Amino acid sequence: MYRTHTCGELRLTDAGKTVTLSGWVQRVRKMGGMTFIDLRDRYGITQLVFNQETDAALCDRANKMGREFVLQATGTVGERFSKNDKMPTGDIEITVTELRVLNEALTPPFTIEEHTDGGDDLRMKYRYLDLRREPVRRNLELRHKFCLETRRYLDSEGFLEIETPVLVGSTPEGARDFIVPSRMNPGSFYALPQSPQTLKQLLMVAGMDKYFQIVKCFRDEDLRADRQPEFTQIDCEMSFVEQDDIIRVFEGLTKHLFRTVRGTDLGDTPFLRLSWEECMRRFGSDKPDMRFGMEFVELADVLKGTGDFGVFNSAAYIGGICVPGCASYTRKQLDELTAFVRSPQIGAKGLVYARVADDGTVKSSVDKFYSPETLAALKEKMQATAGDLILIMSGDEANRTRKQLCELRLLMGGRLGLRDKNKFALLWVVDFPMFEWSDEQQRLMAMHHPFTAPKPEDVPLLDTDPASVKANAYDMVCNGVEVGGGSIRIHDAVLQAKIFDILGFTPEQAQAQFGFLMNAFKYGAPPHGGLAYGLDRFVSLFAGLDSIRDVIAFPKNNAGRDVMLDAPAPVAQAQLDELQIALAPAEPQQP
Ligand code: AMO
Repeated sequence: MYRTHTCGELRLTDAGKTVTLSGWVQRVRKMGGMTFIDLRDRYGITQLVFNQETDAALCDRANKMGREFVLQATGTVGERFSKNDKMPTGDIEITVTELRVLNEALTPPFTIEEHTDGGDDLRMKYRYLDLRREPVRRNLELRHKFCLETRRYLDSEGFLEIETPVLVGSTPEGARDFIVPSRMNPGSFYALPQSPQTLKQLLMVAGMDKYFQIVKCFRDEDLRADRQPEFTQIDCEMSFVEQDDIIRVFEGLTKHLFRTVRGTDLGDTPFLRLSWEECMRRFGSDKPDMRFGMEFVELADVLKGTGDFGVFNSAAYIGGICVPGCASYTRKQLDELTAFVRSPQIGAKGLVYARVADDGTVKSSVDKFYSPETLAALKEKMQATAGDLILIMSGDEANRTRKQLCELRLLMGGRLGLRDKNKFALLWVVDFPMFEWSDEQQRLMAMHHPFTAPKPEDVPLLDTDPASVKANAYDMVCNGVEVGGGSIRIHDAVLQAKIFDILGFTPEQAQAQFGFLMNAFKYGAPPHGGLAYGLDRFVSLFAGLDSIRDVIAFPKNNAGRDVMLDAPAPVAQAQLDELQIALAPAEPQQP
């Protein structure tokens, strides 16, 4: 038997017992004639003690143990002389009588402690060592609990967990696919699913009624803190439902997860629902962070045409936010904010500010263009008071400018400490536009995906003004993060064909790409709809982390590489030959 107990379970009530523990050496400390080893496993750390006076040979051996050696120790549980109330096992120690080295270890390239000295790259290369660290392990435990409670809840609601294939066909729209060559079908490729969207719809045609799956999805897109090329969804679909039915089930799931996994009671009131349009108007985002206010105020009626400021006079949109307590910002701080909005990621032209002094007067960067009365009207409109800093942006295209102002709002919210990770603000964003115009492709694209149903009342607009059609789609947003999204689907082959037509597919192209779905719809498709949560995003919010990488056991880096496995990597010529793949000659290196 390797162990009688784990390294996290012994307490004072166990004093006097003879126990055997196995684990890794966290630390060896020599103090006078005593040697202490902190032995670690998944469950905790227990102090082993060796006494030079009572067993010099054993104590000498203990002194030779290196960090991360794997040991088995047998001894007696005793009360600790100096207790450590920060550790659950801090009241006891094991006076060791037998010590066995199960395996030696090289010195790890970084310290395996709560706060490590290892940089990101090093930790990723040796992720198996990083995973020995408690905070990282805790994230995986949280993820496990999240999945378990998801299954428990959805099972209680009658959902069936059904697996769908990972080798599927490529579908246009959405992100870029990862493709996989087929040896048995030379020149043909599978694609890895971006989501099981069409398959779960086919499961509804198949009468499965309520489906879910905790499933890997693959998207070849540019990576960010909340995006990985492979990530996990809690994917769901239901038959004979309307938007409200789906929202009820998934609000229930969300509250259940908050309560059971995080111990947070979100109360009985339904989550706020805001239309996409309102979100854009008030927060400049379709995923507004509602933990704080600083809502946008439209200022065209106050500042357009009321002074000689050409920028505002020709703007299609002028909006401001009121930042409390920041009127004392120095010129340098304001220049930094201007540089922030002008940065390539945000791309705004500039920033106008106005400070409200203690006596209530307004001083702005555009004073020379406006009368004191207009500036007073600005203060009034912004409902600004002494000490407030008003930040104003303008532009030719309302929503583009709003998105830029949103970045500034988030920055200021963060600076004022209003984006507290222990506070949660959830909402549903509903009534998304059905389509968005793509400058690159010069056509309308599906804003959610091509299977999303339009709002029934907007169906006639598909013929006359498709760009104004709203979709029966909804996103769940938590703290400014889109944690999930879904829609009611089209279940009628004729309407589906019309949407493909608006998206620019010829009937032949639509048939070639989506024939399987349209044909299935001819065999009695029930009305259906669904949703998918981004599991990694949700768990990282629960853990209070900025990046989803920390809740993934073996994540990819920003370049999409697994630095531990050194993937992706070239393959042998024989493998390529078998697949009948010829690589283009390498581009000559730029000098
Ligand atoms: P959507 O594309 O909105 O919808 O994805 C659902 C949720 O998945 C998460 N997500 C990601 N998480 C990490 N890395 C990524 N690269 C990534 N991309 C998306 C987000 C998002 O809200 N089939 C539809 C769902 C449906 O209509 O039922 C779909 O995939 O949290």
